[in-house]
Amino acid sequence: MIASPTSSQIEKAARLLLDGKVLAFPTETVYGLGADACNESAVQHIFEVKGRPPSNPLIVHLADIEQLPSIADLSQLSEERKEQLKALQVFWPGPLSIILPKQSHIPDIVTAGFPTVAIRIPSHPVARALLAAAQIPVAAPSANPYMYVSPTSAQHVADQIGDKIPMILDGGCSQVGLESTVISLASDDLTLLRHGSITREMLEAVVGPLTTIQQSLEASTAAPSPGQHKKHYAPHTPVYRIDQAEAYRSLDAVGFIGIEKHRQEHEQFHFSKVSYLSDSNDLEEAARHLFSVMRDYDQAALDAIVIGSCSEDGIGAALSDRVSRALSEA
Ligand code: TXA
Ligand code: MG
Repeated sequence: MIASPTSSQIEKAARLLLDGKVLAFPTETVYGLGADACNESAVQHIFEVKGRPPSNPLIVHLADIEQLPSIADLSQLSEERKEQLKALQVFWPGPLSIILPKQSHIPDIVTAGFPTVAIRIPSHPVARALLAAAQIPVAAPSANPYMYVSPTSAQHVADQIGDKIPMILDGGCSQVGLESTVISLASDDLTLLRHGSITREMLEAVVGPLTTIQQSLEASTAAPSPGQHKKHYAPHTPVYRIDQAEAYRSLDAVGFIGIEKHRQEHEQFHFSKVSYLSDSNDLEEAARHLFSVMRDYDQAALDAIVIGSCSEDGIGAALSDRVSRALSEA
């Protein structure tokens, strides 16, 4: 059931969480599938609804910074890391997840047995109201079936898992449209584990140089961030880059999704469907629309989806990361 976020529906959602139920809620990045992070069987249910393997840890969402010490064991951080954590808080509430040493009472099912936990304070007003009403840490992955594109509207969630959960709080279309940036303060080097709208440049301006995990494009449970599988955000229709023409040239119905309009890449081929994610070459607007346009194209009975190129600057790094994770083997 899609519920508009009135105060009585938010109260009801908070009670569902306290009762150990799983529900979907909006965040500024993508919709989340939430449950009480300290209730093992509730968290177990998230994995069942998503069809996600238990090797893949979840992000714990907090209402405010005061809750942080009860989830993360900050005493394990060096003075330098403590300073960096403080500096990173300029991005909270917002689309940044920080990996920290966990408190021992956080169930292993949340962290996939890791001694660390991913934490985020989201900025979406409905997420904030829900977290404030429930007053518990909420573990939530993106509210899509495992390996599919993340949802950026309540309807996306309803289309795929609506019959498996009691409530989907509607917070409109996600403003960012890509999952949060993930940074680790728990590793020897400060590590950028997932690109997002809080860009490497923005992070480095407050904490100094970061290592980026490139090997994360390989599917491996031994990877520092096991959720970072090579193919992770994929529609069912095969997806190719514009320069993989040998893979799609001979197909009948090929749809093109352009990222930056000034590149005019669709002119090189005859595509049966063409759209651009932003008419004004605005990469943030393109990021906001990427997942929902991929979903639309996936419903359009195409033989293939071709995605245009984009600049790697700013949020372009996150956009091209998500495109690369949607690609089929050429
Ligand atoms: O924007 C988002 O982050 C959304 C919203 C709902 O908050 N959530 C989300 O969750 O994208 P999920 O589960 O789809 O992705 C979580 C990512 C995965 O790549 C996972 O491997 C990584 O965070 N992660 C979680 N805990 C970790 C840990 N302890 N160590 C390393 N990586 C971790
Ligand atoms: Mg996900």
